[in-house]
This record gives sequence, structure tokens and C-alpha cells, in this order.
Amino acid sequence: MMANKFILDACCGCKFMWFDKENPNVIFNDIRKEEKGFIERRKNLEVNPNTQYDFRNLPFKNKQFKLITFDPPHLKGKMDKSTLKGCYGVIEGDFESYLGLGFRELWRCLDDYGVLFCKFNDVHISFKDIELLFPTKPLFQTSTNRSKNCITRWFCFMKNPNDVNATEEETEEEK
Ligand SMILES: C[S@@+](CC[C@H](N)C(=O)[O-])C[C@H]1O[C@@H](n2cnc3c(N)ncnc32)[C@H](O)[C@@H]1O
Repeated sequence: MMANKFILDACCGCKFMWFDKENPNVIFNDIRKEEKGFIERRKNLEVNPNTQYDFRNLPFKNKQFKLITFDPPHLKGKMDKSTLKGCYGVIEGDFESYLGLGFRELWRCLDDYGVLFCKFNDVHISFKDIELLFPTKPLFQTSTNRSKNCITRWFCFMKNPNDVNATEEETEEEK
């Protein structure tokens, strides 16, 4: 049944952003699974993905998805029991390689003319640094949650096969 799903949420977390958290066209993926109650202050929250793959190494075919959403952790540091880190996770090591490998792998799984949305908040890592990891130039962006210390931005990319700015296509074996 997974083969019929044409949308990938690469790291769905608690699926806050989804209207339909059981959308049948989506593979909801996250590296972790958490039971209700894992965050003390928000007893109903859970992380309940369909699959638990690492977005840096996915078992999907080249060009399998028409739409991919990528909302990776944006906080650096150690995981703890706070609501923020519980919901959003953390990047413990080198963020350039962690997120760079993620972008590369998702670009491989995206179909020609497919769309990738990336959401990021610059509280710990600047947009200037994240932009260096992008697979190509975004088509457009929008900002939400603008606060004194940080901004959340959404970037929209399309995988145009004639795009001269795009990351070289991986010549990996079909998975
Ligand atoms: C910012 S949260 C996603 C929030 C989600 N978009 C929502 O609407 O609730 C980032 C998620 O990425 C997951 N994650 C971190 N590293 C990952 C990896 N290597 N592969 C897959 N998921 C990962 C974390 O477990 C965390 O749930």
C-alpha cells in the first residue's frame, strides 16, 4: 500500500501542521515513535509515524514522491524533557552534514516537477547557513511566527529537470 502514497512527510513529529493527520496519500515518517504522555504538559501529544526511517537514508525509489515536506529539527543541543525539544527534536552533532544529507536524500526521492517544502526557524542556526544546504534556489518563501529573537520561514522548491542551479542528481542504484 505504501507504493500508492505520493506525498512524504520526512519528519512528521506530532503532525501539528496537518489538517488530516491520517491522510491516506501521505507516508508520515519520523525517526522516533513516542506514546501519549511523553510530554508531561501536553498529555495528548504523540509521535506516531507510519515509518521510522532516517531522512538521510531512505528506502524509497528515486523520484517516488510528488510532494515532500521537510520540517527538520532546528534546535541544537541535547535532548531533554522540555515541550519544545519533545515536539521538535534536536540536532546533536554537525548540522551542516545532518541537514545537507537530508536535503540530498529528499531531492533524490522527489519526482521531476515535484515540490519540496522546507520549514525552518533561525533561533539557533541562521538562514544564511541553511541556504547553503539547499538543493536549488527556492521559488518563494514566506515568514510566520516572527518574534524578537527568531523567525520561522517556509521555503518552496520545485525539482525542474532543466534547472542548472540544482544539486547534481544522485546516480544511486534504484532502491
Ligand atoms: C520540527 S519537528 C517536526 C514537526 C512537525 N512538522 C509537526 O507539524 O508537528 C522535527 C522532527 O524531526 C524528527 N527527526 C529528527 N531527525 C530525524 C531523522 N534523521 N530522520 C527522520 N526524522 C527525524 C524529530 O524526531 C522530530 O519529530
